[in-house]
Amino acid sequence: MDLANLKGGAFVAGGSGGIGRAVCLALARAGSDVFFTYRSRRDNAEAAAREVEALGRRVAFAALDLQDAEAVERIAAEAADFLGGFHSVVYAAGPVLHMQLIGDISPADWARVTNADVNGCFNLVHATLPRLRAQGGSYVAVITSAVERVPARDILSAAPKAAVEMLIRGVAREEGRNGIRANCVGPGWIDAGLGHAVMSEELTPAQIETIRRAIPLRRIGQAAEVAEAVVFLLSPRASFISGQSLAVDGGMQV
Ligand SMILES: NC(=O)c1ccc[n+]([C@@H]2O[C@H](COP(=O)([O-])OP(=O)(O)OC[C@H]3O[C@@H](n4cnc5c(N)ncnc54)[C@H](OP(=O)(O)O)[C@@H]3O)[C@@H](O)[C@H]2O)c1
Repeated sequence: MDLANLKGGAFVAGGSGGIGRAVCLALARAGSDVFFTYRSRRDNAEAAAREVEALGRRVAFAALDLQDAEAVERIAAEAADFLGGFHSVVYAAGPVLHMQLIGDISPADWARVTNADVNGCFNLVHATLPRLRAQGGSYVAVITSAVERVPARDILSAAPKAAVEMLIRGVAREEGRNGIRANCVGPGWIDAGLGHAVMSEELTPAQIETIRRAIPLRRIGQAAEVAEAVVFLLSPRASFISGQSLAVDGGMQV
């Protein structure tokens, strides 16, 4: 129950996603109430909320497009009221994207993905920073382990997440004096959400086997394994860790 003694609760952007949902559950297991957002998949949001409730924590959720800065401010205020302030803010959202060679990406798709991811994360930070300053607290952004070693056809994921990573490092640099920590978790191949969709819809079994062999631990990861890293970095156990990125990728970055 690493988070049980902290004041307020956790605000999670993207709780309807494969990784975001696992983060909400791990937060609840660690003793935190949760307010999370979804964009379009209300069924997923309702299911995630039922699971958090079953763990005995208070939970609420709201629809939010992170590109709408005014809406982000409004929902952040709603979340702060519900939780009694934030001890944690998690960026676990990200736009739908497909694996493509750089030469095949249209300018419109590049703009769609970078706007949603980079501006979305900035809007979240902008709306929550004054509230985190009020009591101290911690950010974790879910990025990708591909920021270190970009695989072919993964630039739509890696480039915006590299910007998100630098934004979070900037927060760590500027806001440490206000008691705020800020870190990133970089998933590799995860059998949930976007990773599951890509593996089931865009890759052949032979391609998935090649990926599995390229991972030192020789397997695809689980969303719960990413969520454990997120909760660790949010918890007092990580109280002197800030500005870091922790890859959760079975060693693939090495
Ligand atoms: N799964 C992996 O293997 C993997 C690996 C590396 C990195 N990542 C990254 O980790 C993050 C989470 O991944 P995931 O697998 O959980 O993906 P996911 O299942 O597709 O979830 C994405 C989440 O972001 C929300 N979202 C999408 N666009 C949004 C917008 N404009 N405003 C607000 N929310 C928005 C979605 O809401 P709705 O679903 O309700 O529309 C959903 O909650 C993503 O950024 C992804 O790129 C994932």
